[in-house]
Amino acid sequence: MAGSGPAQPLTSKAGGPLRGEAHAPGDKSVSHRSLIFGAMAVGKTTIEGLLEGQDVLDTAEAMRALGAQVERIGDGSWTVNGVGVGGFAEPEDVIDCGNSGTGVRLLMGAVATHGFSTTFTGDASLRKRPMGRVLTPLAEFGAVSIGRTGGRLPLTLQGAANPAPIEYELPVASAQVKSAVLIAGLNAPGETTVIEAEATRDHTERMLRGFGAQVSVEDRAEGGRIIRVAGQPELRPTHVAVPRDPSSAAFLVVAGLVTPGSEVRVPSIGMNPTRAGLFATLQEMGADLSIENAREEAGEPVADLVARSSTLKGIEVPPERAPSMIDEYPILSVAAAFAEGVTIMRGVHELRVKETDRIAATARGLEACGVAVEEELDVLTVHGRGADGVPGGGTVASELDHRIAMSFAVLGLAAQQPVTIDDAGPIATSFPNFIPLMRSLGAGLGLSAPS
Ligand code: S3P
Repeated sequence: MAGSGPAQPLTSKAGGPLRGEAHAPGDKSVSHRSLIFGAMAVGKTTIEGLLEGQDVLDTAEAMRALGAQVERIGDGSWTVNGVGVGGFAEPEDVIDCGNSGTGVRLLMGAVATHGFSTTFTGDASLRKRPMGRVLTPLAEFGAVSIGRTGGRLPLTLQGAANPAPIEYELPVASAQVKSAVLIAGLNAPGETTVIEAEATRDHTERMLRGFGAQVSVEDRAEGGRIIRVAGQPELRPTHVAVPRDPSSAAFLVVAGLVTPGSEVRVPSIGMNPTRAGLFATLQEMGADLSIENAREEAGEPVADLVARSSTLKGIEVPPERAPSMIDEYPILSVAAAFAEGVTIMRGVHELRVKETDRIAATARGLEACGVAVEEELDVLTVHGRGADGVPGGGTVASELDHRIAMSFAVLGLAAQQPVTIDDAGPIATSFPNFIPLMRSLGAGLGLSAPS
């Protein structure tokens, strides 16, 4: 489990330009879903390009605990022999989802409409995160839960033996909650409906169709979507080609933009419009970022990205863009630190309930590196250093958050003084080869002996 061993300090310092091609790992959201839907299909699903980060490995283990056969047959190549919708068996032990909010919330959906009990736990970060957002709709299916105060893990969910389908309007823009409801709805009779006021990532809807489920998506005139899934389908096993993760590509792209003299090529990145908000934002900031060879692969849009060092300018990022770049604000804040002028990010309150409070962690990290920031409940403002340069020199706490660790590793590459990240261990949850890959581009990243 990431973060459970000794802390692994990482130092990042400026060196030459970054040059070359870097393959980002498989998409984390798509990887979790491919294992879960493979386990709910009858027969053998094959997956290529699976992210072998700890978050996804924990979901693979959970699928085994629920009765599916999950095998790794090569690098990123996996097979899942599914048990069919309604075929999960009660796990013999606690399911440990490690650091993964997506893993635990989707799995809660999967077991909520099976008449047995499952106990979930996770690492110190996950045990602090709110689960009420999924437990509330899952209770409408008839599931009962008992956990720590505030619906925190560890938590036991007694699934509904005779679930009723539900209609649920999301109170927060969350693809995890939407997906938990749709997945629970798979094993309820009739039609389950989710209404979302703002479109969130739609990998569940796309992939469920690929597995043969009946899913309809209606755009609402006032914005957002109504999603309906027909219950108790027989899911067909399929082949899933996982696109490369835009949220991981973000670190490679911003590293290329802020490090002088760089040109970094990041091929075959998932460009699903519900995920691509960062790239549009960087272009608005004046980034020399080309999006080439746009095409469709396995039901998802993909493109090759080329990032060249750029003079960036601060902008205002509108709140309605947040769902399409929710995981990218820490690395956007790093880009903003190098920009000329102020960047104001609005509508970012959901960052407070991620692997850590990402508004606070980003603000503390930037301050430690000599960048002025202002933090409000729902707004993060970064005062770009522009031509004065980013001082760096600080030590940043990664707080069991992979994206905080990688963001400040990128900042150090173009700062005036080296930056230390107190623990790079969490990076393994989503981007296990981040450090060697960055080094292959010329980045000055160095691990120290564990402390
Ligand atoms: C995810 C949804 C997002 C995102 C997370 C992955 C998913 O969380 O932050 O990294 O795969 O559904 P929310 O649904 O809580 O916004």
